Amino acid sequence: MTMPARRMSDIAPFHVMELLTRARQLEAGGRSIIHMEVGEPDFPTPPLVIEAAQAFIRDGHVFYTPALGIPALREAIARFYAERYGVSVSPQRIAVTAGSSGALLLALAVLLNPGDELLLPDPGYPCNRHFVRMLEGVPRALAVGPETNFQPTAGQIEQQWTSRSKGLLVASPANPTGTLIDATTMAGLAACVAERGGALLADEIYHGLTYALKETPLGGAPKEVRLGNASKEICLEHTGDTDTALALSDEVFVINSFSKYFGMTGWRLGWLVAPQRFVRDIEKLAQNLFISPSAPAQHAALAAFHPETIALLEARRAQFRSRRDYLLPELRRMGFRIAAEPGGAFYVYADCSRFATDSGKLAGEILEQAGVAITPGLDFGKNAPERHVRFAYTVAEDKLEEGLARLARHLRS
Ligand SMILES: Cc1ncc(COP(=O)(O)O)c(C=O)c1O
Repeated sequence: MTMPARRMSDIAPFHVMELLTRARQLEAGGRSIIHMEVGEPDFPTPPLVIEAAQAFIRDGHVFYTPALGIPALREAIARFYAERYGVSVSPQRIAVTAGSSGALLLALAVLLNPGDELLLPDPGYPCNRHFVRMLEGVPRALAVGPETNFQPTAGQIEQQWTSRSKGLLVASPANPTGTLIDATTMAGLAACVAERGGALLADEIYHGLTYALKETPLGGAPKEVRLGNASKEICLEHTGDTDTALALSDEVFVINSFSKYFGMTGWRLGWLVAPQRFVRDIEKLAQNLFISPSAPAQHAALAAFHPETIALLEARRAQFRSRRDYLLPELRRMGFRIAAEPGGAFYVYADCSRFATDSGKLAGEILEQAGVAITPGLDFGKNAPERHVRFAYTVAEDKLEEGLARLARHLRS
């Protein structure tokens, strides 16, 4: 009898998807569930993006595109780097992919030989270690905690680097913690990895979803958005992700996506910026694995950079920020410990050890008894997952309030 390949026993399911299935079952049976487990924006696709897709499909010329993506989109992404970050990136270095998932797979596949190690923070985005395993590489977990903002340090890399280490993959803002790596620290990580002949991979999928604000006079740069009380005659400018790791060197691999800031998860579109000498290999691999990214999604994404779309996305960012500002103190008041400030993404990673020693069991009880779906730490690695749960603030304010009220009642009972 044929058996699954050995690697399959190392590939864990995405537990949050199983929790989601149970939540849907409960809903089908008439229960009301507040969804705080889902890692995708609750906002619909921006209207101009939908219009662009409809116009493209109506035309009927829906064919394969070049494997690295249509030139117009690669150029639009390069312009985005110039305008938002002031960084010049050649469109030739940009590969359009099926989400950042496709970008991660391509980047890791062109880098890793069997047995090569990739350093990854734990807790971290679960799929990464499975990609590495699938490529017969070895994921090497760097345990990170609140004392370093749940991000790895150069010291850790120095300690953990071995002759088999090939690189470091970081995310800023990160999933599940929402924490950021500041520009100086990122430069330190890049230098540390480069000194050892390794590659830095920076997952910037949550760029655009950061919530530090500073007041600036009205009439500033176009990326600024006026919020709240206009009579105050100020403008609140978002800060915190004005740096891309691409600014550090042409040797960094940067992964990004239309999924999160652009609110286009289901369109399955992202991109990879790679050092020029890897591009031909990435192209060969993309041709073989995918033939091309989705043509309708690419044509739709051209409208994602339109100023009207960006203004809408910035207004949504402001909403995410006010949700975070509401959720964070409420969770702390209830007794969750959140030791590192989640400055971005749409997650709060909370220590729930005051309530339970098994976060999986706790999340199950909260779902079944309180009707609130949250993600247990189990998905994010082996570093104290039983003590943590992740809250996603991807629900509207009224639902968020209802979810917290249910949670408070459940924890008091
Ligand atoms: C850190 C991180 N990277 C990559 C992804 C993959 O996203 P996508 O393939 O939709 O771009 C996710 C999705 O949640 C994520 O959280």
